[in-house]
Amino acid sequence: MKVKIALLGLGQVGKAVLGILASNRDHYAQKLGSNIEVVVAADFHHMLHAPDGIDLQRLLYYKEKGDIWGSGYAEIDRESLFDRDFDVLVDLMPATSDGLRARDLYISAFKSSRHVVTACKSGLANSWAEIMGSAASSGKRILYEATVAGGVPFFSFIRQCIRSSVVTRIVGQVNSAANFVLLKMAEGTSFEHAIEDAGKLGILEANYHFDTLGYDSAWKTVITANSVFGGTLKAGDIRFEGVEGIDPDRPGLKNTRLLADIGSESGNLEASSTLRELEPSDPLASLKGTGLGFTVYMKGRAPLTVLEFKDGPIETATAVINDLLLL
Ligand SMILES: NC(=O)c1ccc[n+]([C@@H]2O[C@H](COP(=O)([O-])OP(=O)(O)OC[C@H]3O[C@@H](n4cnc5c(N)ncnc54)[C@H](OP(=O)(O)O)[C@@H]3O)[C@@H](O)[C@H]2O)c1
Repeated sequence: MKVKIALLGLGQVGKAVLGILASNRDHYAQKLGSNIEVVVAADFHHMLHAPDGIDLQRLLYYKEKGDIWGSGYAEIDRESLFDRDFDVLVDLMPATSDGLRARDLYISAFKSSRHVVTACKSGLANSWAEIMGSAASSGKRILYEATVAGGVPFFSFIRQCIRSSVVTRIVGQVNSAANFVLLKMAEGTSFEHAIEDAGKLGILEANYHFDTLGYDSAWKTVITANSVFGGTLKAGDIRFEGVEGIDPDRPGLKNTRLLADIGSESGNLEASSTLRELEPSDPLASLKGTGLGFTVYMKGRAPLTVLEFKDGPIETATAVINDLLLL
């Protein structure tokens, strides 16, 4: 089966998607029967189009060189995107504070009969009900595995592996940048140097304050609450905090994490994204540096914890491609 995609965003994650699609092409075609063709690719400066598919190595080469226009593919007007022939819109662009760009883009995609795969959280966290309503009324799907906890198979795990259980609470380390900064500060690194190190690993939002002021983790908390517990929360509805201005001498900093905590044990949906000191024996406390993970509590059975000890653009890209293969 041939799937044509429009890939918007060629940064850390977008480039990793191109690299993995190029190197696993035969595996996806022969083992899974999926030929994924990128027919539109865009960064901030250019939107390129090739109806028969873009050569991904060539595009990567020119992106690394600094200008994809040199790849020679036809430049198109952004307004004409939905006049092109493709099946899935893939959003790997940076978050915006209100998420309106993403909301409008996804709704346009559904209305023109396209599915959406996204790694960008701000649209879903601010306009969940409108986006899901539009997808449902158009008979299209949006998959968003990469929006929460990067490459950790979070929504797939909840949907596929524990369908038989009633989930009552989820506690997760879902943002790597803020927790990376916390751990570095606990080791004696200054906030500014920790940010520099996080930037080198490709785990910071384009506007890093979204990470360090706690917005990114809060958005993920809202998406999880809505997706898993059927909520209709918006980003402003929950209590959240960040790591900017944190006292480096704060007691217990070594085991302090920024954690999403979502539950409906009392029948009411409660969600927050706050700093908490973990017991050293808590499995989430074993996550260091760029690790991510979550513990799921369920009715009448023991909790399950899923941990990934290193997450970054490559792992996130695998979650994006997995969504494409699922579609
Ligand atoms: N990095 C991670 O580990 C990670 C993990 C989970 C989720 N995410 C999410 O994935 C998305 C991408 O992250 P990233 O780290 O790859 O970000 P990034 O490195 O900042 O890349 C963003 C890309 O989007 C492009 N872009 C910006 N505005 C655009 C526009 N109007 N039209 C088309 N392209 C535009 C940029 O173009 P230029 O190249 O020309 O600047 C760049 O290529 C973000 O929403 C982020 O929250 C990232």
